[in-house]
Amino acid sequence: MKTLIFGAKGQLGRDLMEVFGAGGECLGVDLPEVDIALPGAALEAAESAAPDLVINAAAYTNVDGAEEDADNAWRVNETGARLVAEAAVAVDAPVVYISTDYVFDGAGSRPYEPDDPPNPKGVYAESKLAGERATAAANPRHFIVRTAWLYGPGGNNFVEKMLALAASRPELRLVEDEIGSPTHTIDLAQALRALTAGAAYGTYHGVNRGQCSRYEFAQTIFALAGVEVKTAPCKGAEFPTKAPRPAYSVLNPARLEETAGYAFRPWEDALRHYFQRRAQP
Ligand SMILES: NC(=O)c1ccc[n+]([C@@H]2O[C@H](COP(=O)([O-])OP(=O)(O)OC[C@H]3O[C@@H](n4cnc5c(N)ncnc54)[C@H](OP(=O)(O)O)[C@@H]3O)[C@@H](O)[C@H]2O)c1
Repeated sequence: MKTLIFGAKGQLGRDLMEVFGAGGECLGVDLPEVDIALPGAALEAAESAAPDLVINAAAYTNVDGAEEDADNAWRVNETGARLVAEAAVAVDAPVVYISTDYVFDGAGSRPYEPDDPPNPKGVYAESKLAGERATAAANPRHFIVRTAWLYGPGGNNFVEKMLALAASRPELRLVEDEIGSPTHTIDLAQALRALTAGAAYGTYHGVNRGQCSRYEFAQTIFALAGVEVKTAPCKGAEFPTKAPRPAYSVLNPARLEETAGYAFRPWEDALRHYFQRRAQP
């Protein structure tokens, strides 16, 4: 079993390399060598690797930056997705496209199911939904897997941002009206390995179990890290961002769990594991 991973140096990409590399041969490509949005680049990488499976974990992920750099966000998240999916077809391989909870508008009040109607707000969210559709249109053998609030070793993620803020400020105000599903990259990578062992193509949600607000997430981060910092809850409206954020974007991973035979851990357990990995030299 040979897997080709685009975006292999990203925080999810690194854990995909670890998990898929442990069970078989795994080849990773990323910028600057392979720009997925450059015509011919993904195809060349796929033809030279001749993989059994292609995973597209490459993306333009700067949610606020995308508002002012829309062309680039669309180029990577939609055009790049299509070119990777077409490259997979050319080498007769299924493709995985990693997508986001931000395809939903956040007006819901129960965990989103994979078939719930998307309604993205903002350039990043719109370009990611377009990437889902481009992938599905180009390659019938596709797994679209939406995840959320991702953190993994070496990433510039919420956990690391909170720890840096706590080290530089005496008191933090944290948003309590944004609710989501924090997800450890290693768990998503393992779930993807289980899912792609079969051929049940379609759309899935891949997130750790449970839900929390940004405020609760940060408090748990500080407790597990042994960091003492004064915190107070506040409303998202106090911290306006260029791109809107869904107020409620909890995803239900049940379809993926049942199909793949994989059970996601509660997010608190996954976060504890992240701190164990972080402490390793
Ligand atoms: N992070 C989250 O909270 C979150 C939440 C939901 C969904 N997701 C999705 O999960 C996936 C993985 O996210 P992540 O957090 O691992 O992101 P990440 O750390 O930003 O990794 C993305 C990787 O893709 C690379 N890349 C960007 N443009 C590229 C291009 N044109 N060609 C080839 N590679 C390119 C990046 O390189 P550079 O670093 O050099 O740009 C980076 O190595 C993405 O699809 C993202 O949309 C993320």
